[in-house]
Amino acid sequence: MTQPASYSATQKLLHWAVALIIVEQVIVALAMTNVGQGPLQNQLYEWHKSFGLVVLALVLARLLVRLSRGAPAPEAGIPAWQRRAARVSHAALYLLILIVPILGWAGTSACCAPVNLFWGPSLTLPITGGMPVGGAILKVHAAGAFALVALVALHVAAAIHHHVVRRDGTLRRMLAGH
Ligand code: HEM
Ligand code: HEM
Repeated sequence: MTQPASYSATQKLLHWAVALIIVEQVIVALAMTNVGQGPLQNQLYEWHKSFGLVVLALVLARLLVRLSRGAPAPEAGIPAWQRRAARVSHAALYLLILIVPILGWAGTSACCAPVNLFWGPSLTLPITGGMPVGGAILKVHAAGAFALVALVALHVAAAIHHHVVRRDGTLRRMLAGH
């Protein structure tokens, strides 16, 4: 595969759309588990599950584009250990944004069906086992999501470091118009 000179507009759009929804997902998840039982909690759960499915679809599209098109080489002058750290952390981010929503979908289907898409079609997976199975899967889902938050914090710190300290083009090349 030849290496592209830049991220495509689609890659940039998918990067920022997925990032935005994941931040929203974590905020809604914390709200829905703390708000107490009632109609608002039900609405937040529906929102969390539905946008979780939307983000999973976007992540699958993103992975297809990434695998078929690749990514530009790192900016010149970045030390080898930082290039390796970027490769490993990007792979871990891709893995987590894929498995976190899948675990949420599977766990909810097992214990706490239905999984609807925005109060509409049911997309519940045929997984049995009830609360023991679903609850355990959802524990891993939440742990994976919090690991994702930690990794994203590191990722953002690295992006700011590139922009402010190294003053290279790493952040700019993920922005529209560059
Ligand atoms: C990238 C997408 C997602 C992220 C970042 C995410 C994040 C989270 C987080 C951080 C929690 C823990 C909240 C807490 O314990 O305070 C949580 C819980 C939960 N998530 Fe997700 N989630 C995502 C996708 C999904 C999907 C697709 C579903 C189902 C279709 C789902 C269903 C649930 C459920 C039912 C809980 C509550 C578990 C409980 O009550 O203990 N999530 N999610
Ligand atoms: C949930 C939030 C985020 C996730 C899951 C995420 C994930 C990723 C992944 C997987 C890549 C690698 C792209 C590829 O090689 O195909 C990437 C690249 C990048 N991300 Fe994020 N990102 C998030 C948020 C952010 C934020 C908030 C910023 C900026 C403050 C940012 C800045 C960048 C930059 C500059 C690159 C390009 C790095 C390079 O060219 O080597 N990301 N991101």
